[in-house]
Amino acid sequence: MDTKSPQAALSAQGQPAYLSGFLGPVPDEIERFELTVEGALPPELSGLYLRNGSNPMPGQDPGHNFTGQGMVHGIRLEGGRAIWYRNRWVKTPTMQGARAVRPDGTRDVTAGVANTSILHYDGRILALVENALPYELTRELDTVGPYDFGGALKSPMTAHPKTDPATGEIHFFGYDFRPPFLVYHVATRDGVLKHSVPLAVTGPTMMHDFAMTARHVIWLDMPVVFDMQLAMGRRGMPYRWSDDYPPRIGVMPRGGSNADVRWFAVKPGYVFHVGNAHEDAQGRIVLDGVYYDRASFDRLWNRLGGASVAATGEPQATKGGVLYQWTLDLANGAVSEGPIDDLSVEFPVVNGERVGRDHRYVYAVNNSFIEDRGGMNVVKFDVKTGERRAHAFERGWIPGEAIFVAAKNATSEDDGWLMSIATHALEDRAQFVVQDASDPALKPVATVTLPRRVPAGFHGAWIAGD
Ligand SMILES: [Fe+2]
Repeated sequence: MDTKSPQAALSAQGQPAYLSGFLGPVPDEIERFELTVEGALPPELSGLYLRNGSNPMPGQDPGHNFTGQGMVHGIRLEGGRAIWYRNRWVKTPTMQGARAVRPDGTRDVTAGVANTSILHYDGRILALVENALPYELTRELDTVGPYDFGGALKSPMTAHPKTDPATGEIHFFGYDFRPPFLVYHVATRDGVLKHSVPLAVTGPTMMHDFAMTARHVIWLDMPVVFDMQLAMGRRGMPYRWSDDYPPRIGVMPRGGSNADVRWFAVKPGYVFHVGNAHEDAQGRIVLDGVYYDRASFDRLWNRLGGASVAATGEPQATKGGVLYQWTLDLANGAVSEGPIDDLSVEFPVVNGERVGRDHRYVYAVNNSFIEDRGGMNVVKFDVKTGERRAHAFERGWIPGEAIFVAAKNATSEDDGWLMSIATHALEDRAQFVVQDASDPALKPVATVTLPRRVPAGFHGAWIAGD
């Protein structure tokens, strides 16, 4: 069997890719204690690694890899030991069939699958999904309930809020298929929602991420639009690429309102994930993200289970998104944009202390799901020199998002660790991997054998301490 085309092998089994193989769900919740460690876990890493993802319940077909019920996988580290692993579904009302629109037509923002990311905020662990409220979890991964900032948040919350490294304040947004299509929010570090304003956009789009600088927030108003016909099918993701939707990027002061947004027309494209943004010495906004053109978007969307390919034919792209940069000049309205590198990647990550500030390093993942000829790599880009380094995983291992965790008393931007879960393409195996982010070879320092396969998923987080 060709490990470079797991999705082709799976379709032969008659299952969509998101229900089998390395994306396929596990059927139950387990826990195991005192896991086997190869190498040495840095003793300073005491805390909890969590990773969220889509894991449909047995017998369910959600129609898309993005719409399965959330499942969080946790690994507790302490003093160089891997104390436990456990996995738990995020127990939201969608498990009992609740839907985003109630039978009486009203919107239920508690009815989300909470499958995308983890946010450590105000002492809470939150599981997020972009079309509903977050759900709070305990440190043993049991579900507490929806989190709405003490009743203040009444609309969806993105899975990609930005935490200001200096103040702990969070900036975020929610998008919806009903007006208001986009709402901007700011909350204090301790749970007070202090600013919520609707922003005018052309129509309802899938806005997965945004960016923040020291003084501005940045909106990606890109041409992947809500489609009522797809929504009537009641499965999958009701969004598709549109050549008619004008692509643009908006810049507004932090804490601003709709009248403050400056819009810049950009090339058609889609961005699931921002790397980072900052203001340069001339005051220009510099934004790094993973950019997809139409062919590469349709290719990925098809693989994840979306419907856009039905309308457009099988896309010819063999590649995924690439690291890309936009420079937006607030003084004269000028835009320059283009790729930073030609390698197909996803899950760009920077040191959290650099969010909104100038950064040098971006970590990302390149694998055969993302690029047909791709390897199985965790990649480190030096955006100042253009250098790219990679650690190649052994054939068959598919690395997931590698989050950055700063070393104790770190002395440089890349002084720290990368943490990820790698899933085997064909076997019932998974590993938790810790790499040295400052090592040019990104060599793993420790590999923890997990008790079974963990489906390839979305975003992780590290919560230091007890
Ligand atoms: Fe994401």
